[in-house]
Amino acid sequence: MDRIRIRGGRALSGNIPISGAKNAALPLMTAALLSDGPLVLENAPDLADIATMKALLEQHGLLIEHDRAGRRLIMQGAATNLEAPYDIVRKMRASVLVLGPLVARFGEAKVSLPGGCAIGTRPVDLHLKGLEQMGATISLDSGYIEAKAPPGGLRGATIIFPQVSVGATENLLMAACLAEGTTELVNAAQEPEIGDLAMCLMRMGARIEGVGTARLVIEGVRSLGPATHPVIPDRIEAGTFACAAAITGGTVLLEGARLSDLGAVARVLRDAGVDVAERHDGLQVSRLNGLHGTDVMTEPFPGFATDMQAQFMALMCVADGASMITETIFENRFMHVPELMRMGARIKYHGQSAIVRGVPRLSGAPVMATDLRASVSLVLAGLAAQGETIVNRVYHLDRGYEAVERKLAAVGADIERLAG
Ligand code: EPZ
Repeated sequence: MDRIRIRGGRALSGNIPISGAKNAALPLMTAALLSDGPLVLENAPDLADIATMKALLEQHGLLIEHDRAGRRLIMQGAATNLEAPYDIVRKMRASVLVLGPLVARFGEAKVSLPGGCAIGTRPVDLHLKGLEQMGATISLDSGYIEAKAPPGGLRGATIIFPQVSVGATENLLMAACLAEGTTELVNAAQEPEIGDLAMCLMRMGARIEGVGTARLVIEGVRSLGPATHPVIPDRIEAGTFACAAAITGGTVLLEGARLSDLGAVARVLRDAGVDVAERHDGLQVSRLNGLHGTDVMTEPFPGFATDMQAQFMALMCVADGASMITETIFENRFMHVPELMRMGARIKYHGQSAIVRGVPRLSGAPVMATDLRASVSLVLAGLAAQGETIVNRVYHLDRGYEAVERKLAAVGADIERLAG
């Protein structure tokens, strides 16, 4: 298994190109199930999770070309197999996003239940209840969700989410595009990835109103057609590298990143003493003076992203004063805490809140983590730590960060991948 070695203490300086967003690209790929295509995604990231989604869609029967040099994914054909097997779904929960498109277009689907994961139990009840409201019959059998549309296909419905869910909004948005009549999604997630999916669906011929708001209204159409769509830049990758610049006291230009996509993350970074400036070609992030302890609470967009919580905590480990970090989205998303403490961080946590008391310097150590964002928070800590840090289980990073060590080395970090 590959590891990453970091020798800390160098301020970053230079430009970091931001890749297409993983969490936009995954649902966009499943949208290819809604038409014969071709659906061409531009600015597609080259990540392990994208390869997993490609394998899932290929086993459904789609033809997919990943043109790495051109950063494009070209998807076409109609699904011939309506089953998403456990072996793929257990690796990547976003696989459940094939459910809505398959039931809407082909009238049925059999999708493995994803099960729990490292950051929480993560049920899919909201996805299933929404489909039921659209007339589908759902049964759970031997670990699989079996969904069947009524004769004549799914019907439009008013679906009021009791809780904001990115995935449920995406699944039902896609299903609604081919349902009979009007669907209203109330208390829908407003993450930029939802807006990106809606834009792509509209390019394919869908009729959607309210994009960018918590109320989406979808007028079903009979069929969708081909489209070419650019994936939005990855706001979480941008936020992560903003923390890298800040934790090392450096200055970087995050090429292609957009301030509006960061939501509360930009405000919180500024409160902590980080300079974030929007330019025509991206975001310039620098930290020239000290960092101040700053409290955050994770919330749905435009609140502070749960996917940035671990990275911000790493930053707060070396800030002046204390910060209280509260995780409200997932129940088990503090797995980076004991690892950061092995590097000298002072953190106490109880339930959903952690108090971080800043220390002048972290010290390098061998560390490991059990999910993507926790792993990258340890890379950030390593960049600021005295001595050598080895981050184990790099496959977590490869799921969601493209060439993380190459991008950081290019702006002056002493970082390398150790094979084997
Ligand atoms: C998406 O997951 C992201 N994944 C996650 O990114 C991100 O952390 C999360 O949204 C929150 O922003 C992708 O986009 C592929 P949710 P998703 O449904 O859609 C509960 C990363 O690091 N819930 O918005 O699965 C759920 O348990 C990842 O890149 C239900 O109770 O998240 C959670 O507490 C990890 N029932 C909350 O809602 C449901 O049916 C929000 O989850 C669905 C969700």
